Amino acid sequence: MDKLVVRKSGPLHGEVLISGAKNSVLKLMAASILAEDVCVIENVPNLQDVRVMAEILVALGMGVEWTKRNEMTITPAKELKTEPPYELVQRMRASIVTMGPLLGRTGQARLAQPGGCAIGERKIDLHLKGFAALGVDVKQTHGCVEGYAEKLVGDTIYLDFPSVGATENIMMAAVLAEGVTTIENAAKEPELTDLANFLNKLGANVKGAGTDTIRIKGVESLGGTRHMVLPDRIEAGTYMVAAAVAGGDVMVKNVMPNHLKAVVAKLQEAGCEVDVFDEDIHVKSSGQLNAIDIKTLPFPGFPTDMQAQFMALSSVAEGVGTITETIFENRFMHATEFSLMGAQIKVEGHSAIIQGGSALEGANVKATDLRAGAALVIAALVADGPTTIHNIYHIDRGYDLFEEKLRGIGVNIERVGS
Ligand code: UD1
Repeated sequence: MDKLVVRKSGPLHGEVLISGAKNSVLKLMAASILAEDVCVIENVPNLQDVRVMAEILVALGMGVEWTKRNEMTITPAKELKTEPPYELVQRMRASIVTMGPLLGRTGQARLAQPGGCAIGERKIDLHLKGFAALGVDVKQTHGCVEGYAEKLVGDTIYLDFPSVGATENIMMAAVLAEGVTTIENAAKEPELTDLANFLNKLGANVKGAGTDTIRIKGVESLGGTRHMVLPDRIEAGTYMVAAAVAGGDVMVKNVMPNHLKAVVAKLQEAGCEVDVFDEDIHVKSSGQLNAIDIKTLPFPGFPTDMQAQFMALSSVAEGVGTITETIFENRFMHATEFSLMGAQIKVEGHSAIIQGGSALEGANVKATDLRAGAALVIAALVADGPTTIHNIYHIDRGYDLFEEKLRGIGVNIERVGS
């Protein structure tokens, strides 16, 4: 398995062009299941997760083709299958979002039950509760989850937690349902709004995405469209924190600053100079930072997907920082890996207390999830001696041209095979 070797780097200088959002494109691809005509998706990042979702669509009978470097053309199936294969589903948890569109389009779906993962239990009860409210007979048997409905009929669904995946899945199931579906306490993440915009371009009638009440008026059928994926706010935030920790000045280009308000505020609090332009954000840092307190929350709160990167920051900053994780129950696996590099972190339940000011040293560490992997690269930028990061398949799942973009701003990083 490949590893990444990162050596002390910085100050960092230059520009990073941000790719399309992983957490949006996967849902847009799944939503194409609903379309009766061709969908062209632009600004598609070439990621492992995207390739897996493409394989799933092909297995369902659809056509998927890269028509340009970042453009994907998806054609409808002549005969749509309703069981995404086990081998593919178990490779990516996000494949659960094919269930909503399959139910919406055909009234049936059957796929392997997604398990928990390193960061938490990752339940799907809210997805299933929503499907059931729309009239789907949902069963969980033999490691499979399946649903069947003669027809789907709109209803009001209150989510106990504003789950991103559940809101998206229910929304996709409801666009072709009879009557009106209302999702209360819906998630407000920008990627979900991107999905609603895409569905509306196909001919759906979705209103209120981006607020906590989404109203979906069912339509008869959906056509095709051309759509550009919104920029990846987490990828952008990752490079912003890298610049903050290593020092220097970096322009992060092609972002939607409105989606990054919490990250910008926390970097400023840590002592960085952050200038926000229409589509770019400039981060200037001396590398002398203050440890900060963070609490992860649903959007527009601080994103759980940026928590590990800020743990790297607080480890080397002045003072004591805390992180309170409220989204996933077990998302501090990376604390152990940072400790191997000399960081001083104490985890107590849902909180991590980080004693800053540690002089980090390069070590053999492993990526415990996608964002944790990126965070270890950030810590390695200021560690003495090389850091070797194992299990980088996590990073490949979600960062487009990772090494190339890092090298472009002066990071000493190489991929080595085993
Ligand atoms: C998505 C993102 C992920 C991000 C997360 C929170 C994708 C592929 N992933 O994940 O990167 O970290 O949003 O912004 O888009 N929950 C339940 N029951 C459910 C569904 C969720 O209890 O039916 C719980 C989960 O276990 C978790 C919390 O709700 O503790 C948040 O999950 P959710 O918002 O659904 O996140 P994902 O859609 O899985």
